[in-house]
Amino acid sequence: MQQDRAKHVAIIMDGNGRWAKRRGLPRAVGHQRGVEAVRRLVRGIEPLGLDCLTLYAFSSENWKRPDEEVDDLMNLMRRFIKSDLPEFVENGVKLKIIGDWQSLAPDIVAMLEDALAQTAGGHQTLAVALNYGAQHEIARAAAKAAKAGEITPEAIEAQLDTGDLPPLDLLIRTSGEVRLSNFLLWQCAYAEMLFVDTLWPDFKPEHLAQALENFDARDRRYGGR
Ligand code: IPE
Ligand code: IPE
Ligand code: MG
Repeated sequence: MQQDRAKHVAIIMDGNGRWAKRRGLPRAVGHQRGVEAVRRLVRGIEPLGLDCLTLYAFSSENWKRPDEEVDDLMNLMRRFIKSDLPEFVENGVKLKIIGDWQSLAPDIVAMLEDALAQTAGGHQTLAVALNYGAQHEIARAAAKAAKAGEITPEAIEAQLDTGDLPPLDLLIRTSGEVRLSNFLLWQCAYAEMLFVDTLWPDFKPEHLAQALENFDARDRRYGGR
């Protein structure tokens, strides 16, 4: 049976540190190159026909890293929003943030609120997971569902941060690690998965196009036959 093209792809962008280490460079440079890979990918997604690309940028566990690295990552975020927001608006990229982003530094929260407002009219969603942990997301959603009166899978799903996004079709993780690291645990129930060895700073739109070809060749059965 001809299956549908992927509409929603999520990526665990991993391997910035190893990319830098292999070159004898500071981790911060790996993160900078990681941001460039994001920029390149967002510029290249229009022809791929996705409704939504979701990127794991900072996990709720990443606070465990040394303060200096966390600061570098937060500063890169500030710079990225500032430099790329006009391009998002121009290219119809609609920003969405998932995770507990409201508890980030107040200036970042303000920048994100402005970016969300400015991109609200876009047609292709870029969802960025910031201070995101799936177990917390599910717990928050279950609490909201309970408050509204029913804890059913449908009610929880509707309350997830991704409640307004299309179902996840394909999850990609770079850098050769084969784990989910607390990303989209609920949404992965029937997502296809692809683990590639490419380190995130080396990831190009061509790699995503290849991943989509790989997805097209798969047979999704959802427990049926
Ligand atoms: C991914 O690269 C970026 C973030 C988690 C923020 P890493 O920093 O995890 O790179 P590795 O896994 O150490 O190579
Ligand atoms: C997952 O990568 C988080 C992001 C890519 C933002 P990590 O590098 O933090 O994951 P672990 O620690 O290897 O599981
Ligand atoms: Mg990592």
